[in-house]
Amino acid sequence: MNDVSEIIEALYRGDGGALSADDIASFLDECESGGYDEVLAERARNVREPIYGNRVFVRGLIEISNICKNDCLYCGIRRSNRNCIRYRLDEDTIILCADEGYELGFRTFVLQGGEDAYYTDDVMCPIISRIKSSHPDCAVTLSLGERSRDSYRRMREAGADRYLLRHETANPDHYAQLHPASMSYENRIQCLYTLRELGYQVGCGFMVGSPYQTNRRIANDLCFIRDFYPDMCGVGPFVPHHETPFASFPSGTVEKTCRLLSIIRLLCPHVLLPATTALGTIHPRGREMGILAGANVVMPNLSPVGVRKQYELYDNKICTGEESAQCRDCLELRIRSVGGEIVTDRGDVKK
Ligand code: 5AD
Ligand code: FES
Repeated sequence: MNDVSEIIEALYRGDGGALSADDIASFLDECESGGYDEVLAERARNVREPIYGNRVFVRGLIEISNICKNDCLYCGIRRSNRNCIRYRLDEDTIILCADEGYELGFRTFVLQGGEDAYYTDDVMCPIISRIKSSHPDCAVTLSLGERSRDSYRRMREAGADRYLLRHETANPDHYAQLHPASMSYENRIQCLYTLRELGYQVGCGFMVGSPYQTNRRIANDLCFIRDFYPDMCGVGPFVPHHETPFASFPSGTVEKTCRLLSIIRLLCPHVLLPATTALGTIHPRGREMGILAGANVVMPNLSPVGVRKQYELYDNKICTGEESAQCRDCLELRIRSVGGEIVTDRGDVKK
């Protein structure tokens, strides 16, 4: 199988499972010549329609800490960045953000942070259970990196519903080029399977255009995503951060990110797929374009405005200024402009 249109039709029919990584890699190569993105996006919307309609789910993102023991080469809050002003939110501040978010209509809270040793299970569990008991109609999503099975289990028992842990790349050699030797691809993947086994809805994902990425390696990501079939999948462009070793690498492109969002929608029709802040950062209408390509989730920022600028994974991140206090309204208008309808329920995956 190698004709591009034939592959698009196979994906649309739900026959993506038959494609090999080689098929997908040459498909991605041929897509670069242009002209296929509109039909891919249209197919992706068609596949999304019977499952989610035009509904777009909002998640309130609370960036609880930018302190991180890791040193991922792409990330602006990596341990080696001495010019990063560090902060962490205490329990009451996090609860306050969630309570404010609830008033604004949010029914999912994503607690995201660096791998900060302060947030032991004894610190996290009461935060999770307080949010769940004051807002039983809400989902709590965690995005706190790699932890032990026991830690994931305790936080699940405290009430956490979902966990986001991007796999970053499904190619072990590429993984080693993006991360310090202290991190392992095997452990990353093991965490995802552990989280699933513990009953979390699980999200994986990767950056588009990260250094040393190739279409063959993206084909590995797509095969991994197809076979793992995550509940959520975070895919946004790589954007360089000036204080990292990857400062002079180029950003991923809007076109390629949107193309991959469409392909992921076709491979995993039920997946909850965000139009990321990084996509909104590289193009003024990036998130809208992501929705048109098949995404169905947006994650406005609920962090205190005073710390937003400090949670700087990459340069020029949007929604960090005073004007961003009302991200929810801003996003609602944007989503409506592309025919989407913001929904305020928990927005669980449909499977
Ligand atoms: N550009 C884009 N995304 C990034 N992330 C980290 N650094 C960058 C960057 N420079 C993503 C990673 C991580 C998620 C929280 O943010 O994929 O998993
Ligand atoms: Fe944050 Fe628009 S979504 S300012």
